[in-house]
Amino acid sequence: MFFKKGNQGAAALHFESGRGDINVISESDVETQLKMIGLTSKDLQVINSLQPFVLKKIDYIVDRFYKNLENEPSLFKIINDNSSIERLKKTLTQHIVEMFDGIVDESYLLKRIRIAHVHVRIGLQTKWYMCAFQDLLLSLINIIEENVTQKDDILLSIRAVSKILNLEQQLVLE
Ligand code: HEM
Repeated sequence: MFFKKGNQGAAALHFESGRGDINVISESDVETQLKMIGLTSKDLQVINSLQPFVLKKIDYIVDRFYKNLENEPSLFKIINDNSSIERLKKTLTQHIVEMFDGIVDESYLLKRIRIAHVHVRIGLQTKWYMCAFQDLLLSLINIIEENVTQKDDILLSIRAVSKILNLEQQLVLE
């Protein structure tokens, strides 16, 4: 059971009511990949239960994400040559919110494969991609810390989020 900080006594959220759906081709590599990282529909339920907290802080996550990229000027050149921060903030917002929909299916996987191709085309190096992912994980841990009080629930949340981010990385860095 999740409790919102400052709101003890009132159950803000039950992760059991979150949506959690895995629908991938059986005996495919992806099915094995999910098995090997232990990503289950229960993890997706936990992830979906966190979505309202993520939505509330999405500007913080996305602003921080692009602020972090300022550490490496070549990344800004790639962005300005191919797009704009303003445009990418919108696509990243949508992407992160969807990550918390609690559904991993064919359309989820195909979308990630397309995003991977986009980043290959712009010549994004793996090390910068990984730095960006780590920043995302740290933002999400902050959000969990701010909103989930019970230790078991915090651990459950961090485990689930680390798995979905790991899946993202597997798909886009393949
Ligand atoms: C495009 C996500 C890291 C630069 C996109 C899109 C998404 C996305 C969802 C839109 C794709 C589309 O629908 O067309 C992510 C995620 C990242 C990441 C989740 C890592 C956690 C980076 C980094 C850079 C970057 C580190 C630094 C250069 C771009 C650019 C585009 C783009 C320039 C637009 C390419 C185009 O439209 O031609 N990214 N991105 N991304 N991303 Fe990333």
